[in-house]
Amino acid sequence: MLASIKTHELKYESQKLGMMYFRVAIILFGAQLLMGLIAAFQFLVPGFLFEIFDFSVARMVHINALVVWMLFAMIGSVYYMIPDETGIEAVGVKIGKIAFWVLTVAVTIVVLVYIFVQIGAGTEATIWFINEGREYIEAPRWADIGIVVVVLIFYWNVFATFMKGKQTGIMMVMVANLMALAGLYLTGMFFTDNISMDQFWWWWVIHLWVEATWEVFVGTLAAYALIKIIGAKREIVEMWLWIEVLMLFGSGVLGMGHHYFWIGTPEYWWEIGALFSALEPVPLVAMFVHVLYDWGKEQGLAEAEGDGSGHALNNGPAMAWIVTNAFGNFLGAGVWGFFHTLPQVNIYTHGTQFTASHGHLSFYGAYATILIGMMYMGLQGTYGIKHMKMTFKSKMGIFLTTFGVLGMGVALLISGYEQVLVERAELGATWNAFFVAQELPWYIQGQLWRFIMGIVTFVGFIYLVWDLLTIGKQAKQAQEAKA
Ligand code: HEM
Ligand code: HEM
Ligand SMILES: [Fe+2]
Repeated sequence: MLASIKTHELKYESQKLGMMYFRVAIILFGAQLLMGLIAAFQFLVPGFLFEIFDFSVARMVHINALVVWMLFAMIGSVYYMIPDETGIEAVGVKIGKIAFWVLTVAVTIVVLVYIFVQIGAGTEATIWFINEGREYIEAPRWADIGIVVVVLIFYWNVFATFMKGKQTGIMMVMVANLMALAGLYLTGMFFTDNISMDQFWWWWVIHLWVEATWEVFVGTLAAYALIKIIGAKREIVEMWLWIEVLMLFGSGVLGMGHHYFWIGTPEYWWEIGALFSALEPVPLVAMFVHVLYDWGKEQGLAEAEGDGSGHALNNGPAMAWIVTNAFGNFLGAGVWGFFHTLPQVNIYTHGTQFTASHGHLSFYGAYATILIGMMYMGLQGTYGIKHMKMTFKSKMGIFLTTFGVLGMGVALLISGYEQVLVERAELGATWNAFFVAQELPWYIQGQLWRFIMGIVTFVGFIYLVWDLLTIGKQAKQAQEAKA
């Protein structure tokens, strides 16, 4: 009977809290995409919503929603995996739940303020209450402080549970890395009038997040997920994890030099940035090899055993997203990042659509993918499903979003290429050249294709949400019918 199906099999409150974070994350992801579509349309029809909802606002909400949904999904993933790894309930799950609501309400207020107070003077008061004006992390200071409090509660929960429960290698890396990840947020909380100094510190958050601490974070998620989904051997996965940590921090930290080429910092950053950031793709290749190696190995084992039990893949959609992650991280961050990381190249590509192309492919490839994979893991646990198979909707979701983002990346690359050749090389990067280049057909066609591919991405997102809402129940029914 339909009604008698039990849909909540989670034993731990911490895991339920993780699912709450996932729900908000996916809503914010949808908001992010809608804002992106508005901003992309404004590239084609600049007067669209002029002085009602300007490009600057649509773009700001687009990228802030991006960061926030990812942080929600990251916290959700940790709360979800903690009981599995430590063997116990998160010690402060009650206060964790209160913190969840505080954070969600704060984010809602901040977004409403962005939308309703779009322009005005920049003063000390607006830094506190409206917007701090720092790309990706524009939250006003009151919200900044609130975020720190919520994150402290979260971190205490992770740390105390780790100390009390079983201490796995994965959790050890998680606990150490989260401290660095949260600590770096502090370097983006003050605003200085000197733009060089301001950018110097701002990159400590942005670069050291996405190219060091967030990368290590997804390494721990992948390690956890591979053990759960394909029964990968813990010793092997953890060994890879330690190697990746070493390499990521080795190249990622000084790789920050690639943002210090032209912002008024000393010229020795050219050499440092060139060398270390050029090494950054190396750990990303290692992560790629790692996932595929484990996958191939475990599949071989499952086939050898021949009974489909134990090691066989038990969550199709999650695995598909994690493999896409391994590939996307390597392509979007590693290859696309390497394209423009040497100062000799970057002097031409800096701040063109080349950068936007890389920004989309990397954030999607390295982070959106694995976080969506974690949501599928959560659904599997929530419904207590032994083998979750891909549905038609799962396939459409992953295919269309991935194809759409790849398409956007290629379209933007073409616009960026035109900017490099015309605006930078031929016309000498003047203010006038900037506008001339944006009116040429290659640029405009690139922007048109980005918009079309953005719609493809959005259709994929609708399939994804539809799947997330239905796959659990469907799989559960199939499972009960079999039993
Ligand atoms: C998942 C990891 C990564 C993410 C999410 C990411 C994302 C981004 C984003 C969003 C920007 C634009 C920032 C802005 O608004 O100014 C950017 C810039 C840049 N990224 Fe990455 N990135 C990643 C990894 C890498 C790697 C591994 C490299 C080099 C090998 C790299 C090289 C660069 C360079 C050189 C710039 C500056 C572009 C410019 O001068 O305009 N990135 N990245
Ligand atoms: C419906 C699909 C999407 C559309 C139409 C879209 C459109 C846009 C537009 C118009 C901008 C402003 C670019 C500029 O200032 O030149 C932008 C920036 C950005 N978007 Fe998207 N976007 C979409 C999806 C995504 C996704 C899925 C991600 C990542 C997961 C993402 C990450 C970013 C980032 C990081 C930036 C800042 C890039 C930079 O400063 O270089 N977007 N997007
Ligand atoms: Fe960077």
